[in-house]
Amino acid sequence: MPKLSGRIVVASHNAGKVREIGELLAPFGVEAVSAASLNLPEPEETETTFVGNAELKARAAAKASGLPALADDSGLEVFALDRAPGVYSARWAGPDRNFKTAMARVWRELEETGASDLSARFVCALSLAQPDGAIESFEGEARGHIVWPARGDKGFGYDPIFVPDGHVRTFGEMSGDQKLPLTHRARAFEKLVASLR
Ligand code: IMP
Repeated sequence: MPKLSGRIVVASHNAGKVREIGELLAPFGVEAVSAASLNLPEPEETETTFVGNAELKARAAAKASGLPALADDSGLEVFALDRAPGVYSARWAGPDRNFKTAMARVWRELEETGASDLSARFVCALSLAQPDGAIESFEGEARGHIVWPARGDKGFGYDPIFVPDGHVRTFGEMSGDQKLPLTHRARAFEKLVASLR
C-alpha cells in the first residue's frame, strides 16, 4: 500500500503540472517538493505508454532523492487521429515547448482526415515510487472534444482546444479551481487516495 505523508518529490519539470499536483497533495498535509528545486535530472521518456513513462520518472526521482516520488505522465488522445499525439503530446510542441504549434498541428491533421468525430480525452498515469523500489500506478481520464480556434489563455499545454464533456468552455477558459476537479490528473489522484483507505 502506498504512503502519502511527509515530503514527496513531484517528479516533473513542468510548472503547470507541479502546481496542480501540489494542490491535490495539499489537503493531506504533504509537502510537495519539485524535482527541479532538488536539481534532479529529467529522465528521457523512452516508454510507449503513459504508465511506463510515469513509473520511469517516479523511480528515477525516488532513487535520486531518497524520498517518495510522485510522477505523472499525461497527454491528449484524439480518437480520429488514432489517439495521437498521445504519449508524444509534449514532443509535438518541439524543444521550445510551443503549444500554439502543437495545437495547430492537431487541428491541421483533423482537417486532413476530414473526420467529423472531434472526440478526445486527456489521460494521466500517476505513479508513486518509494525509495525502497515499491511502486503503484493509477490512471485517470477526462473525456471531451477538440474545438478550433483555440480559446482562453489559462492553464497550459492543449487546454485552449479541449472542451470537457458537459461543459461549453475550454480548459483554457477555466480558472484553476474550475479545471482541476474535472481533470484526468484529479481522477487518477482519486484512485491513488482510494487505494490508501
Ligand atoms: P509529459 O507527461 O511530460 O510527457 O507531458 C504531457 C503533455 O501533455 C504536456 O506537456 C501537455 O502538453 C499535455 N497535457 C497533459 N496534461 C494536460 C492538461 O491538463 N492540459 C493541457 N495539456 C496537458
